[in-house]
Amino acid sequence: MRVTQTTTERGLNQSILPMRLYQKAKKLGIWDPRDIDLTQDKEDWKGLSDAEQQYVLRLCSMFQAGEEAVTRDLLPLVRVISLEGRLEEEMYLTTFLWEEAKHTEMFRLFLDDVVGVKRDITEFHGENYKKIFYEFLPEAMEALIQDQSPEAQAKASVTYNMIVEGTLAETGYHAFYTSLKRLNKMPGLISAIDYLKKDESRHIGYGTYLLSRLICENENIWDVVNSHMETLLPYAIGVVNEIITPDENMPFGLNIDEFINFAMKQFQFRMDTLERARTRNVDEIYLISEESVGVLR
Ligand SMILES: [Fe+2]
Ligand SMILES: [Fe+2]
Repeated sequence: MRVTQTTTERGLNQSILPMRLYQKAKKLGIWDPRDIDLTQDKEDWKGLSDAEQQYVLRLCSMFQAGEEAVTRDLLPLVRVISLEGRLEEEMYLTTFLWEEAKHTEMFRLFLDDVVGVKRDITEFHGENYKKIFYEFLPEAMEALIQDQSPEAQAKASVTYNMIVEGTLAETGYHAFYTSLKRLNKMPGLISAIDYLKKDESRHIGYGTYLLSRLICENENIWDVVNSHMETLLPYAIGVVNEIITPDENMPFGLNIDEFINFAMKQFQFRMDTLERARTRNVDEIYLISEESVGVLR
């Protein structure tokens, strides 16, 4: 029989990380894509070379489909958390899903208003990108409909939070910053990326908390996390390689090795943070600080 937590003595636990993230999201996650001024971006777009335009379009097409995917694929995880009666975590996840929807809206707005692209831009999705976003991600998330085990949750969160968000999206922001931001171009898009990055830091922070909790609660989960991270890494590095194609003559003077190093650093940082959970107990995980999981202000 259901116990109503909010009206019993248990109430809401304000001290656990997901509840702190929920409180933060209510203040920081309320930006509106429609308020972003893209006037200068339209001017700047016209001044880019063909190779630069191709590069920005490819990045945006990867983000557009990526944000759509994470918007569509999160629901099974929210359901699992709800079935387990973790109300504070579910409350946080309501902000998470809403923010992904706004990210989807933001890239669509940019593509419509600045680039004015009407054609199908999935041509920019390479083999590795398709493997992660068309197969691994939806399969890991949909598996949770049938299988709510800690193993299935760990695989889902590794794919979604550690690889897609924690490694790929972070490298994608870096790609925008080292090209457009460095040259002071497209200020509207860059301000949207700043917001996205903050939202994502909470998403990744939650994922780190969830995986740390699962690792603490179940002896075998570290091995599941470790091996699934290793399985996905080559595909993730493959996606980073697909951001730039060799025939483009390195737009914005970019260096692909620098991108790969950046992605590897992100990946290793996630691994190290998760490995620390092995030495902790669950109460410590509940009280983990925002800073230690990389949440931005
Ligand atoms: Fe997002
Ligand atoms: Fe996200």
